[in-house]
Amino acid sequence: MILIDGKKIAAELREELRQEVVELKAKHNKIPGLTVILIGDMAPSQIYVRMKEKAANEVGLKSEVIRYPEAVEEKIVLDKIEELNKDESISGILVQLPLPKHIDKQKVIETILPGKDVDGFHPMNVGNLSSGYESSVPCTPLGCYLMIKKIEPNLTGKKAVMIGRSNLNGKPMAQLLLKENCTVTITHSKTKDLKAECLEADIIVAAVGIPELVKADWVKKDAIVIDVGINKTDNGIVGDVAFDEVSKVARALTPVPGGVGPMTIACLLKNTIECFKRSQK
Ligand code: GUN
Repeated sequence: MILIDGKKIAAELREELRQEVVELKAKHNKIPGLTVILIGDMAPSQIYVRMKEKAANEVGLKSEVIRYPEAVEEKIVLDKIEELNKDESISGILVQLPLPKHIDKQKVIETILPGKDVDGFHPMNVGNLSSGYESSVPCTPLGCYLMIKKIEPNLTGKKAVMIGRSNLNGKPMAQLLLKENCTVTITHSKTKDLKAECLEADIIVAAVGIPELVKADWVKKDAIVIDVGINKTDNGIVGDVAFDEVSKVARALTPVPGGVGPMTIACLLKNTIECFKRSQK
């Protein structure tokens, strides 16, 4: 079994991006800039944002975090996004989710210029991705995709099963694999026989938030299994895949932690650089 070392692949990607930033700086005499907006003091969001900032600095991006208290008015956030949209030194804007209930998530997403939407959540980017045009691609599925391609460069004809239909992962992941000529099934909580669907799959991407849902007898021998889950349990953090037993049947599997997580962050940096490059065209 191949243990897909997301930490190592992400470190390699960051090194490539660091070199690219040096080249871009030489060519354009400026560097890509990422601004992250963080609202409230939820612990996981604080941790993620700190990791994003550290990684951005490591590859030489200009990076800034703007923090607001939980009770901040929606208008203040939208006005700040408008200001960042106009700021030529900012290539990418990310508003960390989830947001407090009084702030309209979709309004926030749609206020970010599509060209600066490093999350790929703006409807314009969602539409472009599904139409096969150039777009920002959400960081988590992009990271999963890069890991899958490392294991299997030619995905044509493979059967891929997404577990979960979220805008953050399941749907964009399906689009990426469809572009690679996979036959894609998106499953969800109302799917009749999830085990039977998974047993058909050459590739499984699990992103539902149910601890160790995917068992060894759900997985075809030699399948590639990507575990997006991060679930807090009495036994510590576990993914959506029963790692120990699935590792005995799968061809390749991502660990939790150390799989998808580091790749998500590296892909945010990649997206920031892509937005910068498109803006210089
Ligand atoms: N919160 C959890 N994952 C994400 C993500 O990919 N983007 C943003 N903006 N917030 C998140």
